[in-house]
Amino acid sequence: MSATASLLFRQLFEPISSTCTYLLGCPETGQAVLVDPVLPTWQRDLEVLGSLDLRLVATIETHIHADHLTSASLLKREVGSRIAVAALDALPCADIGIEDGVPLQFGSLRLQPMHTPGHTDHHFALLCGDRLFTGDALLIDGCGRTDFQSGDAAMLYRSVRGKLFALPGETLVYPAHDYQGRRVSSIEQERQRNPRLGGDRTIEEFVALMAGLDLPYPKFIDYAVPGNLQCGACPPGLPEHLRHFCEPAQTLDSSAGAVPASRAAPGSPVTSPGQSTPTP
Ligand SMILES: [Fe+2]
Repeated sequence: MSATASLLFRQLFEPISSTCTYLLGCPETGQAVLVDPVLPTWQRDLEVLGSLDLRLVATIETHIHADHLTSASLLKREVGSRIAVAALDALPCADIGIEDGVPLQFGSLRLQPMHTPGHTDHHFALLCGDRLFTGDALLIDGCGRTDFQSGDAAMLYRSVRGKLFALPGETLVYPAHDYQGRRVSSIEQERQRNPRLGGDRTIEEFVALMAGLDLPYPKFIDYAVPGNLQCGACPPGLPEHLRHFCEPAQTLDSSAGAVPASRAAPGSPVTSPGQSTPTP
């Protein structure tokens, strides 16, 4: 039986930061995990788990996020889920240290962590059968930025092309973000068509491309990173215009449906190899 033969799976969307949270569940044991859960949608996520008769046993971070707060601590407090982050981050609030190639097993659910530095130095992608959760290392037609949090474009190039693109072409690519309503791709599609990393792009070209993006300073990074180093603490002194990153959202769609126009990331520009989106 393949690793995903009996997998329960939902792709959930958080529109404030355009984050995709992934629910993976084992139908035999009722154990479930959330990959990259987001603070404002924690209640929605628990409702979806409940509707599937699943019990949240762990939350898993692909990396220390700079554009949203994780709900890991809050969910641990509410339902006792354990918190998994990169072992290299050595966070006192973590219960499980993610290590390269050391599987995470929850009932029949088995996730293979792949260390994919470049967006951040301790970033992990997670492989579950034929599904790959790429975090911010590889996005659909894009990639995460490399100019903060120990980012390194050459390292990201090697992670994506050397590790992720080496997977079977039919492997499904589930990114941590998308700003244009796209939800899934494949390794083959990204290998061929990703405008930053695909085709015959050289490492020199990629490094120059990333260096020339001229992206704006991330508006939430100064609060998100310290908050996420505490596994999702709402930082003190948060300005009024950033409060929605901390507050529960009551009216969000419970599916990975379309982004409500009023909540979509503002001014998502047209895709190009250089600057495709509000890059995480
Ligand atoms: Fe990120």
